[in-house]
Amino acid sequence: MCGIVGYIGKKQAYPILINGLRRLEYRGYDSAGLSIINGLLKLYKTKGKVIDLERFVRDRDISGTVGIAHTRWATHGEPNDVNAHPHYSPSGKMALVHNGIIENYNSLKKELLNRGYTFTSETDTEVLIHLIEDIKVNENIDIVKAVQMALSQVVGAYAIVLICEEEPGMLIAAKQGSPLVVGIGEDDFYIASDATPIVEYTRDVVYLNDQEIAILKPGEHIKILTVSNRIMTPYIQKLEINLGNLEKRGFPHFMLKEIYEQANSIHDSMRGRTSLQSGMIKLGGVKKYEDKLLNARRIILVACGTSWHAGLVGEYLLEFLARIPVEVEYASEFRYRQPVLYKDDIVIAISQSGETADTIAAVKLAKEKGVTVLGICNVVGSTLARITDAGSYTHAGPEIGVASTKAFTAQVTILIQMALMISMKKKTVSKERFLNLLVELNQIPAKVKKMLKANDQIREIAEKFINVKNALYLGRGVNYPIAMEGALKLKEISYIHAEGYPAAEMKHGPIALIDVEMPVVVIATQCETYEKVVSNIQEVKARKGKIIAIVTEGDTEVRKIADHVIEVPKTDELLVPLIATIPLQLLSYHIAVARGCNIDQPRNLAKSVTVE
Ligand code: AGP
Ligand code: GLU
Repeated sequence: MCGIVGYIGKKQAYPILINGLRRLEYRGYDSAGLSIINGLLKLYKTKGKVIDLERFVRDRDISGTVGIAHTRWATHGEPNDVNAHPHYSPSGKMALVHNGIIENYNSLKKELLNRGYTFTSETDTEVLIHLIEDIKVNENIDIVKAVQMALSQVVGAYAIVLICEEEPGMLIAAKQGSPLVVGIGEDDFYIASDATPIVEYTRDVVYLNDQEIAILKPGEHIKILTVSNRIMTPYIQKLEINLGNLEKRGFPHFMLKEIYEQANSIHDSMRGRTSLQSGMIKLGGVKKYEDKLLNARRIILVACGTSWHAGLVGEYLLEFLARIPVEVEYASEFRYRQPVLYKDDIVIAISQSGETADTIAAVKLAKEKGVTVLGICNVVGSTLARITDAGSYTHAGPEIGVASTKAFTAQVTILIQMALMISMKKKTVSKERFLNLLVELNQIPAKVKKMLKANDQIREIAEKFINVKNALYLGRGVNYPIAMEGALKLKEISYIHAEGYPAAEMKHGPIALIDVEMPVVVIATQCETYEKVVSNIQEVKARKGKIIAIVTEGDTEVRKIADHVIEVPKTDELLVPLIATIPLQLLSYHIAVARGCNIDQPRNLAKSVTVE
């Protein structure tokens, strides 16, 4: 994971680097560091967050117009001062920041140790910068050539940026697997793991491709070479990020702001796609593949974490409405288990960041097997968006909180539209049901807004459960993945152990856990299996468990037996996930706040999991 920022030009680098790190802190936050050249190359790094780095450099000389910076999510070596990036080359004249994993670092390190080098850190990154300098000195070649030669020996994933005291007018960056974006200013360059640190300075960007090395010298055009020395023509794109979306706008946490943004983000993911007037759904991004979708033998949804939960909701919707067999796979499992794929299968990868290493690898595998791969992705211009055959952006806007909220509901919104679009063309649902769903879908943003009004009530409920050790989440059908997602949210930000189960499965095992201490969150909205879920609630109550029930407004039956009831506005049962997710997000949020947890940067996690 890790966030990388770099700057070269006429401005002071430090404010650009530190602001950039703040924007990228969601990617990793166990240590931070920076390196600036001002005659000499200086390097400052420390365990902790970006704010700790700011404190650390407060009385030091951080002037200079070229620099690199890093916020880390450790993979090799514990988070401490020494393992923090940047890393020095043996002479101390070069510094490198790295995002990714050098898989063959051990064998490279052994070779370098044999040649008399010593290492101060346990990272794979330090091995790479040693290798680059070793090649440069031994072969007596320039840095760019040395970087090319070193990278040709490297196995694994990297995004790197390197500066060198001897050539202070140049910044070198390269990528394989992990993302890097170059911002092109008037007479300066910016570089970062994503576009958020760049957008306030320039809207002209180049997304580097795998195996590319960018050579950035102010006053000259960006130059891109490949590791094997091919000259590439840079493709300059315009950024379309709204700066306001990157701020908290008065909310105490990004997560809460993003929860509240869902009425808008769901609306945005339907804008221009779903039209009540024409009674149609058009997904422009996948138009070219519409026939393939309609005739697909199977749809295989691949994703990780919360996006995988969206996939599970998609499975219910696509099978129910479009009558196409669907499989939902963890990307990390899919890629290593030799999946059987047919040419008329369609793989759809779902990812907020579009950079999740396992999801990207799954896409590559499917493409190698000749299968059409579509993407459902939030980050515009991300790797997923670029390597899939086609896709639909979720348009949820930047999601900064590590716990995914608005990206999830936007993913579900796309999947609903996809299922409806196919069902409309294949006539697998009646015209009446289709139109009814369309009307209901259009009302979801307003109903989400209404749902958010329960925030204070949910906070009061949350306060009663701040000291629990475990929680169970139950749901059925399309709400079973919502139970899983609710449990994941609680685990991620409050560190309370939680499990999501299909309600009827409880009696096959988890019921043994229930006692007077155990909160059981049940999604018991009106649906075909409502009565069965009510029986499951009775089973919990008989064992003195505490029930927090999510019910359809006006419900009276569950109210009689549940300890706490949260009402959700009435909608079609297939669309309930879009609303029922919200009280679960708020419940986790308030429990975590009351426990004093770090909401936007929960321990051990990172927003973009760019390592396998
Ligand atoms: C979400 O709350 C999690 N932090 C995590 O499970 C996330 O959904 C997962 O890492 C997938 O990320 P992606 O959607 O960016 O691919
Ligand atoms: N492998 C590097 C380290 O452990 C970078 C980690 C990453 O990008 O996640 O420091």
